[in-house]
Formats: sequence, C-alpha cells, structure tokens
Amino acid sequence: MAIDVLLGLQWGDEGKGKIVDYLAPNYDIVARFQGGPNAGHTLIFDGKKFVLHTIPSGIFRENLHNLIGNGVVIDPITLAKELEKLREAKVSYQHRLFVARKAHLILPTHRLLDAASENAKGKEKIGSTLRGIGPTYMDKTGRNGLRVGDIEAADFQQRYEALKAKHMSLLAIYPPVDFDLEAEEARWFACVAELRQLQLVDGEYYIDAALRAGKKILAEGAQGSMLDIDYGTYPFVTSSNTITAGVCTGLGVAPQQIGEVIGISKAYCTRVGSGPFPTELFDETGEKLRAEGGEFGATTGRPRRCGWVDLPQLRYTIMLNGVTQLAITKLDVLNAFTEIKAATHYQIGHTQTNQVPFDLVETDLTPVYQTYPGWLTSLQQAGAYEALPLTARTYLDMLQDELGVRISMVSIGPEREALLVKE
Ligand code: GDP
Ligand code: IMO
Ligand code: MG
Repeated sequence: MAIDVLLGLQWGDEGKGKIVDYLAPNYDIVARFQGGPNAGHTLIFDGKKFVLHTIPSGIFRENLHNLIGNGVVIDPITLAKELEKLREAKVSYQHRLFVARKAHLILPTHRLLDAASENAKGKEKIGSTLRGIGPTYMDKTGRNGLRVGDIEAADFQQRYEALKAKHMSLLAIYPPVDFDLEAEEARWFACVAELRQLQLVDGEYYIDAALRAGKKILAEGAQGSMLDIDYGTYPFVTSSNTITAGVCTGLGVAPQQIGEVIGISKAYCTRVGSGPFPTELFDETGEKLRAEGGEFGATTGRPRRCGWVDLPQLRYTIMLNGVTQLAITKLDVLNAFTEIKAATHYQIGHTQTNQVPFDLVETDLTPVYQTYPGWLTSLQQAGAYEALPLTARTYLDMLQDELGVRISMVSIGPEREALLVKE
C-alpha cells in the first residue's frame, strides 16, 4: 500500500484540516510529517469547532491511528492543551495517538529566542508565529536538539540544562523581550510528564510495519509549499520542507511509497505574516475577500492578506509536489463577487513569464489577470459538482485546464459535509 499525501499549494491555511478530517475514514493512519504548533488546522462538524496545532486531523475518527512523525517539532505545552480539549470533547485518544521518538522538542528558550530574534529584526521581521519553530529546527540541523525519545533518558534534566545554557548565551546578543522563563519552564516540565504517558514509537518502523500490513496512510502537510524552506519565498518562509519530499524525511519512507498527492488551493489566495505575495489586493476587493472568507489566523488571530489565485505560483508548487489531484476550497467565499480574477502570468519589465522568479522579494513584477464572471448565488443547494452554477464550473474548468491536474474535490463551506467530490 502507498502513502497518499495531502498538502497546501499556497502560503498555508488552504483548508487542509477540513479535507483531512473528511478523507480520514478512507485511511487507517493519518500522519503529520513536518511543522509544529505554527500550524492551525480547523475542523468543524456536529456544530463544534476544533483547531489542531500538533495532533493530526484524523483524531476525531474512531478506529484510526494518528502519528506525529519525526519531522514534526513538538511543544509539550501546546500538545498538552490540545489533549485537554480532546478530553473535554470526550475523544479517547490514548489508543489512537502515537508520537515518533525522533521528533524534536520545542523548549521554552526556543520560543524566547524566536521572540528575541523577531523583535531584533524590526521591519525585516518574518511575521513568525513565535512558536519557536525556527530556533528548534536550527538546533536540529545544528545537531544540538532534544528529541522526544530523550525524555525517557535518565539524564534528561542535564541535557535540558545544557541546551538551555547554550540558548542563554545566544540570547545575550539580542535586546531583552518580555518572557517569564521560570513560569514557562515549570509548565513545560509538567507537560513533558504528560507526553511521557503517550505511546512513543520509532516512527519509521511503525510506518514500515503498517505498510507491510497493507494499511492505508494519509500524510498531512502543514503550512504551504510557498513557505517551504528551500522553494518558498525565502527568507519569508518556515523552517521545514513542506513539500512532498518532506514526507520521505519526515516519516522515514522511501519515495516509491508515495501514492496520490492531493494538492489544496483556495479558490483565491491568502498569506499571513510578511513576505512577497504578487496577487495581493490592497483595495476593497481584498477587504471583501477577508470578510467573506473569515480570513483571520487560526493560530495567532492575525488578519490574513488576501488576493486572487496566482496560476504561475500554483503551477510551480504543483510541479514541486507531483500533484495528482486538486482540492479547491472556499469556493463559496466567491459567491458575492460579480467578477473573479486569476493571474495567468507575470510581467517583469518587457518580458512576460510563467515562472516564479529566483527572488520574488527583489523582483519587480506585475501579475497579468484574466477576468471571469461570478455566479452571485449560494452554492449550498448544489448537491453535486455537476449541479454547480455554470459560471462556477467555467472557473473550475479553467483552473483544471491551466494547471493540468484534475480537480477531485470542491469545498463549499467550513463544515465537514460541505464538500463536492467529483467522480
Ligand atoms: P489549514 O491550516 O489549511 O487547515 O486551514 P485553516 O484551518 O487555518 O483555515 C481555513 C479556514 O477556512 C478555517 O476557518 C476553515 O473552517 C475554513 N474553511 C475550510 N474550507 C472552507 C470552505 O470551503 N468554505 C469556507 N467558507 N470556509 C472554509
Ligand atoms: P497551517 O498549517 C499560514 C507563516 C507565518 C510566518 C512564516 C514563518 O495552518 O497552514 P514560523 O512560525 O513557521 O516561523 O513562521 O510562516 N506560517 C503559516 N502561515 N499557515 C500556517 O500553517 C503557517 N505556519 C507558519 O505566518 O509568515
Ligand atoms: Mg491554518
């Protein structure tokens, strides 16, 4: 059996949580392979709303296992909060949640370093979620990090102190920031005790055994491909590989195990935090997208920047990920628009291009748009893809043709069931 992958093709928040939750019953295991509590994946069902940061979005489905893979960075404090929410909702996660021992730990001083370094950047700041992501992945590649498996070691406390001491000397180069380290450390150790109660596994063997037993696995991406550390809008990116390749390193599987790659894109585009966004709208149309789409961050509550779909950008991330099917989300947000636009290419000086340039930050480009008529009606009554208004289908057909990948799902509302699956 292969591992299917579901990931975001834009700058995150494409609706991954919703689609994973919907698809989960088709799988035996859902596994997160990268990122950490910078992610916020929203699930809405039975009139309830949940936002998951570390825990995979298959957790609400019975008889399904969920793995936090080795490529993820875990803050025990956030994880404990998520577990508490699950207990409140009477979700029995004990038998269906697994944590890879090789996943790295976010320490309180990683969060402190994140805050101090962002603060020192002033106007150049990345707009980090301040969850300690960058410093934790730096310690991972710098070969200093602490891993989940280390909490089982007798000298864990000493290892912690040694890393904290390194962080304290690093912090000396930054102006001080407000952070109650002592209180955060006390909370952290209490939450590490909770992490110890979970089922810790060697993730790579766990996945291998599942594949050999013919289990179906869905790898759940966090962030989006334009935030990928290698191929995103560097330096305005996150610190992990958010693309399909990240599944291999983040779960410990070989490339030939990858099956379907489901790429998710909104019917328009958003970004939260700093960095280039060619089709961003600064006018009332952008405001309207934000209002209609409820575009405020699921993790930080920050307003998301909004704009039209960017076809060169999507072709780029489809290429990087080997996308085999597309899920288009939030189509209903466009219900109120008389006209819908999509950038077909970029104008850079006297040349037109279909490619994302080396440095989107420095390149002065203008997106060139094609305009499509809106449908100005609710999509709620469309029980099937074929029943969508003709103008909506024209827009979707255009996306499919321009992107060269079939659309398999269209999401028309935040709730679990508001989804049209195309035969
Ligand atoms: P994720 O990080 O990719 O899981 O996405 P987020 O949860 O951060 O953001 C997506 C937001 O859009 C959430 O508030 C979802 O409840 C909501 N959402 C998802 N799909 C749809 C949809 O088709 N229509 C509408 N109106 N909202 C949606
Ligand atoms: P999900 O999984 C949207 C953005 C931050 C910032 C940059 C770096 O919900 O789609 P970091 O905290 O990683 O150092 O921040 O990346 N970012 C996200 N934007 N959705 C996310 O996750 C994001 N995770 C990080 O806003 O610009
Ligand atoms: Mg999100």
